[in-house]
Amino acid sequence: MQTYLVGGAVRDKLLGLNVKDHDWVVVGATPEEMLERGFKQVGADFPVFLHPKTHEEYALARTERKQGQGYHGFSVYAAPDVTLEDDLKRRDLTINAMAETENGELVDPFNGHTDLRNRTLRHVSDAFCEDPLRILRTARFAARLAPRGFTVCKQTMDLMRRMVSEGELEHLVPERVWQEMQRALHEQSPTVFFDLLRELGALTVLIPELADPLALEAGLRALACIHKHEGSTAQRFAALLSALPEPDAVHRAAAMKTPNDCRDMTHLVCLFMTELDGISKNGLAPQQALELLGRADLWRRAERFETLLQTLACTANPSLYPILEQLRAAADAASGVNPRDLLAQGYKGKELGEAIQHERLARITHALNHSQQQEG
Ligand code: CTP
Repeated sequence: MQTYLVGGAVRDKLLGLNVKDHDWVVVGATPEEMLERGFKQVGADFPVFLHPKTHEEYALARTERKQGQGYHGFSVYAAPDVTLEDDLKRRDLTINAMAETENGELVDPFNGHTDLRNRTLRHVSDAFCEDPLRILRTARFAARLAPRGFTVCKQTMDLMRRMVSEGELEHLVPERVWQEMQRALHEQSPTVFFDLLRELGALTVLIPELADPLALEAGLRALACIHKHEGSTAQRFAALLSALPEPDAVHRAAAMKTPNDCRDMTHLVCLFMTELDGISKNGLAPQQALELLGRADLWRRAERFETLLQTLACTANPSLYPILEQLRAAADAASGVNPRDLLAQGYKGKELGEAIQHERLARITHALNHSQQQEG
């Protein structure tokens, strides 16, 4: 039985990056032998085991045979006669298909090291097609490594384009797509991910609304800006969809099964983008401000409004920045209204609600007059 370090750890060591996870491949062992040595099997169907002490993953060398379309269409085959090379051959990119022996020697049957030096992302073999998610993975590695000069080679671009045109992406479940996409949103150059998917014709399958070049361009600009400010996943996703009409963006966020905070921020950003456009150049009317702040559900969660303003600042046309400032001033003023004070004054039920809104409006009016005077 022999053990090899494989995949991302070998790649990242050669790139001089921090290695986060260690994945191992075991050659020449059976599942029973692994269990005898104290390893714990991860899932019933996959020959992957956890080390009893380090809890790192040890997978039996395996090959996979594709039998139908999409991810579920292939079966796993692991047996002691599967070699390390068989195992590396079914991996996605050559830079991910290198192994290291226990003595630290590189095993590199597919010239991953040469591709790494030449800054090339290249598929290992036709087995790449076994999992269409690899199109997104390749785009994600491009987004990560583009600042170091990496690009996807022509053959791999052609193969991915063919996979897209044959409808392979339609077989991916939304959960797997989102998992890759949300990681891509945090890579070094997230815009490279979406640009590459667009070039492959994949974006129109994954986010059809971004087929409109103007919406895509505006979204990518906003994403680059929010990325610079270290925005959350929700902010990044909302920035990407920010130029879409609100119902389209909300529908897409739901169809992609994004988490609630992503859906919420997408809804708010798109809603405010439309509303801000409609606000006259003379500034924000107090009643309008009150309604907008109410829609943002500011009264219960003020920090969410701050996140929204930050995202909008990356998204909106600079001529709208003064309005964002007015909204902030209005929010600061209105959040000073304490319902308990009004309760203590004897307001109840519907009247209490009206009194709160009345007081908020008064404070917003005062704050907006004050900020307009200062500007004047
Ligand atoms: N792999 C693959 N196809 C996939 C997923 C994974 O070929 N759809 C292979 C690659 O060889 C990869 C390894 O499995 O290097 C481990 O996968 P994973 O841990 O998901 O990715 P890493 O390459 O370690 O990348 P990251 O740094 O993003 O975790």
